[in-house]
Amino acid sequence: MQKNYGVKFTAFSSALPSVVVKNNDLEKLFSTSDEWIYTRTGIRERRVVSDKESGLSLSVDAANKTLAKAKVDPKDLDLIIVATTTPDKLYPSMSCMLQGKIGAKNSFCFDLSAACSGFIYGITTAAQYIYNGECKNILLVGVDIHSRFIDWSERSVAVLFGDGAGAVLIQRCLAKDDELMCHSLHTESDVDLDLTLPNENILYPNHKNEICPDFVKMNGKAVYQFAVRVVPDVVNKILNKVNLTPKEIDYLVLHQANQRIIDTVSEKLKFNKTQVVSNIEKVGNTSAASIPLVIADSIEKKILKAPCKMLLVGFGAGLTWGGLLINWQGDS
Ligand code: ACO
Repeated sequence: MQKNYGVKFTAFSSALPSVVVKNNDLEKLFSTSDEWIYTRTGIRERRVVSDKESGLSLSVDAANKTLAKAKVDPKDLDLIIVATTTPDKLYPSMSCMLQGKIGAKNSFCFDLSAACSGFIYGITTAAQYIYNGECKNILLVGVDIHSRFIDWSERSVAVLFGDGAGAVLIQRCLAKDDELMCHSLHTESDVDLDLTLPNENILYPNHKNEICPDFVKMNGKAVYQFAVRVVPDVVNKILNKVNLTPKEIDYLVLHQANQRIIDTVSEKLKFNKTQVVSNIEKVGNTSAASIPLVIADSIEKKILKAPCKMLLVGFGAGLTWGGLLINWQGDS
């Protein structure tokens, strides 16, 4: 594609809900232990929304922090994309509601549904609007509140997820300064529904007088095998495209699904531990929020520093996966 402009990642921010749920708290809900959860997932605690919080309130928080950091007026936003699979409402979309809350009245808005790959799909989508000259300032938010879609008695799923939001401001710059070096997106229909959040009330309208719970259903082993197959493959595709080796990448930023997946994949690819960022211990798997959350966290803790090359990979329901390489020059 002819690139008339470049893409710059001006500011990353995140927002977490107030309620902390530790592994020990889960021991009161079902038979489990901190040791079982930590050794299999790397998670010690996660955050969940209170009755006063929602995916939208977290998105507003992350968006406002991002715009303040970048010193950009919400009225200067051309486009808002929200990547989520747990929207507050089926419509209006999260992005339309967010526009009103932050006063970004000159933007057009849409949501993007690619589960845990949503942020990666969102960056590549936003970049096309910059490259073709249509937009200058794009706000991308990744947000999910899986705590409302989990059967809290189903121990194999309940231990994994947490709620959160992360945001990035993506701005137009000169083509020669483009920070997005390359991307690679993929989809493989999950015909066996190994990872699904059904919407039973739509499929079975006659159930309307009963409470029809919509809960995440997961075949953990199949998801693990999918992740350790596709993530190394997409990383290699990206490295080959730009002719770089793992040693020449500063940070590997994987979707924070499970520490065991992160460790297995990074060892397979021969990245060393100092290159691999992680915050799953404190927040669990936050789905579309996980990549911006771990980036914002790592920047704040000065673990991730610009200028750097960061390789981002998302993978999740769909099945979807994708990676991209950012030559990040830092906050605005
Ligand atoms: N506490 C204690 N025991 C448990 C728990 C729990 N929370 N959950 C399951 N068990 C039990 C099972 O019932 C089973 O008992 P049994 O042997 O008596 O039948 C035993 O532990 C082993 O169960 P497995 O499912 O074989 O456990 P496994 O070692 O595979 O670990 C896990 C399960 C952690 C889910 C693993 O399959 C995994 O990491 N899968 C990847 C899934 C993932 O990361 N999903 C993230 C969301 S999707 C995404 O973001 C892309």
